[in-house]
Formats: sequence, C-alpha cells, structure tokens
Amino acid sequence: MGLQGPAKVAIIGTGYVGSSTAFALLFSPLVKEMVLVDVNHAKAEGEAMDLAHAATLIRPVEVYAGRPADCAGSRIVIFTAGANQQPGQTRLDLIHRNTAIVRQALPEILHYCPEALVLMVANPVDILTYVAWKISGLPENRVLGSGTVLDSARFRHLLSRHYRVDPRNIHAYVIGEHGDTEVPVWSLANVAGVDLEEFYLMDGMREEEAFRVEISHQVREAAYEIIERKGVTSYGVALALSRIIECILRNEHSVLTISSVIRDLYGIDGEVALSLPCLVGNEGREKVLAIPLVAREKAALKHSATTLQQLIAQLSL
Ligand code: 2OP
Repeated sequence: MGLQGPAKVAIIGTGYVGSSTAFALLFSPLVKEMVLVDVNHAKAEGEAMDLAHAATLIRPVEVYAGRPADCAGSRIVIFTAGANQQPGQTRLDLIHRNTAIVRQALPEILHYCPEALVLMVANPVDILTYVAWKISGLPENRVLGSGTVLDSARFRHLLSRHYRVDPRNIHAYVIGEHGDTEVPVWSLANVAGVDLEEFYLMDGMREEEAFRVEISHQVREAAYEIIERKGVTSYGVALALSRIIECILRNEHSVLTISSVIRDLYGIDGEVALSLPCLVGNEGREKVLAIPLVAREKAALKHSATTLQQLIAQLSL
C-alpha cells in the first residue's frame, strides 16, 4: 500500500479520551470521516454534533454517531472504550473490566471493517493490545497500542525544560509497559547525536544520577499527578493518537514507541505486548527496532514484560 487519500476512522468510546481524540483529528487533513460509537449512544450523538459544528469552522469533515455496522470502511479503529483510572488507582487495576469490554465490543466492530488497523488506547493498554490481537486473529502488525508514545513525549518535555532545547530535537524513548514498570532509556537519549551527559558537560555542569531518578519518577507519575488534579488525562493522549494516526495514514515510517506484540526479544521468554521503538506506516507496525540497551535497562524491560505476562496468564484467552 502506498499513500492513500483522506480516510474514515472509527472512534470507539466517547469519554474524555475518545472525544478529545476526535477533536484533535479535526485538525488533520488526513481524516475525512469519523464515526463515533459509544454504549451511551446519546453521548456519542452529542459529541458528534458538537464536533460537526466545530468542523465547519475548519474544513469539511463528516462526523456522526453510529452503531458497529457504521464502522464499515474505516481504515483505523481507535478503541478508547473502558473505565478510566480513579485517583489512587493504577492502570492495571482496570484489567478485568476493560478486558471484558474489548471482548464484547471489538469483534462486532471488526466484523464490519475487517481491513482496519486496530489502535488500542484504553488501559491497561499493553494488556488490552494483547487481548485485541489474540481475539481478533489479526496479524501482529495491524494491532497497535498507544503504548508509551505519550510517556516518551513526557520524557522529552521534561528534558527539554531542563536542557532548554526544543523537544523536537531531543531523541529519548520510554519503553516497556505504559505504566508503573516503564523504562526510560537514558543510555540512548541524545540531542543531535550528542548524548545527554556530554550535552550537560558542554554547559559546564555535572550530570547527576539523582536528576535521572527524579525525571524518571516524574515521567512515571505524570498521569497520577494529572488525575489527582483534573480527574482524567486527555489532551496528551489525544495528540499522541493523532501523531500515530498521521504516521499510518501518511505512511511516514516514523519511529514511535507504540505497543505491539513481540516475542523472544531482550531475553523476554515468549510473547507479550509492550512498547519498543517501532517504524510505523500504513501497514501499521512495520518493524520493531532492536535498540542497544545497557544491562540495567534490559533487566528493567524484562521485569516490565514479566509483570505483564503474569497478568495476561490470569485472563484465560
Ligand atoms: C495517561 O498516561 C492515564 O494512561 C493515561 O495519561
């Protein structure tokens, strides 16, 4: 598949994440049609009306509330439906409830758009990416999770503030679970090919381990901090999704830390879904990049994988 014209996408779930994502996609010329599906159909209708009005001020985009059959012809199914974290809850606390929602809703939707790519967003996103892959029978490259795309952005944001460098010039990735066991890859973080430690020294300053520990902590805790204050996170994930969707629809072959099913990498035994830097284009995940990790990052990634695998094992898929 090469470049394609503007696409139809389906957004499943019109809570804060689904509706913010739809809003973000209004600004993308790559999307010409959006169908919003929610168990609360009236909510989907209300969001669709509001978005359709907004669209008239930007460009013609068809936005409407629909049932699963209305997803026919969608290039991407963006699955945001599910309970979200309450203050104090971890993403993993949502596992049983949200797995049941995926099992119930996804097959019916895919029945009407069997050619679609699936983009999982609801949490715990890595577990649900694995569940979606398993129950859909789709090839691994066509089931993606938003994974740590947002965590990598949070990481770059904090580094950018600290080093006073445009975040677009900072290459830094968070890999593993989108959650408490995630792994910021400090060993490869760089600005224009200059590794961060050297960059810091160039400024006549000394790199400190405590600084790394603190930044890693802030990246990991970011969602908790936001949820504590405003109850949900929405804009960050919406723009992370819009970025992933652009890569797919524009066939960009960009490197993004999406979640996807991997097996037998970095000493991880068997299969699991988690984030690693991947090339993303219109086939979905095109390639997992086997980045060189230092021993402690490898060990942390393995721990992240094992944590997820233990949870998957409880699901009898
Ligand atoms: C986030 O990281 C809660 O997973 C959501 O913003």
